[in-house]
Amino acid sequence: MVQSLVIAALALFHILSTIGWMGTAMFVVMVMTPTMLKLSPSSRVELVLALFPRLIKYVSVFATLTIVFGAILAFATVGGNMAAFGPSSPWGFRISVGAGLTLLAFIVAVGVVIPTLRKIIVVIEGMKQNPKDKPPAEMASLQNRLKLSSMTVLALLTIILVFMVAAARF
Ligand code: HEM
Repeated sequence: MVQSLVIAALALFHILSTIGWMGTAMFVVMVMTPTMLKLSPSSRVELVLALFPRLIKYVSVFATLTIVFGAILAFATVGGNMAAFGPSSPWGFRISVGAGLTLLAFIVAVGVVIPTLRKIIVVIEGMKQNPKDKPPAEMASLQNRLKLSSMTVLALLTIILVFMVAAARF
């Protein structure tokens, strides 16, 4: 009884964290990136300075919690029996593939998305100090990199979701 309550609590925290990570990725890809292209340079400056530091915080926290709770949930479910993650168990195989893809998504998020958000903040702060200058040429490539990397993370998270639900339900 206690063990099932612990597993249910871990699953709840794991799912809440994934909602935070995937929700932030969806917001960046579906709402923020297309909206930013339509804004005037001055509105874009304000939006970036208000929004990007929060995005960096939420992605870092939720992505880390997803992995931490996911790993604890996986080990608590199998009771330390590592063989359960081998290819002979469909459940373990799906969880292992999902976990591997999660590490890839984490590397893209922490290694590309967050540094790009940080670079855009630096460029935008420069633009704020010299409002009459044209936006620097690197801005377009930074925006492109942000779009591509966040789309990659969202695509990976969607595939992982399929593996997770398949593991739990089939
Ligand atoms: C290190 C990475 C991860 C590990 C080790 C992990 C592990 C697990 C485990 C053990 C379960 C319970 C399966 C069951 O009840 O039989 C689970 C469920 C779940 N995971 Fe993950 N997970 C990881 C990453 C993710 C990510 C990135 C997402 C989101 C895209 C995700 C979404 C879910 C969902 C929605 C469930 C509930 C599925 C259901 O009940 O239908 N997980 N995960």
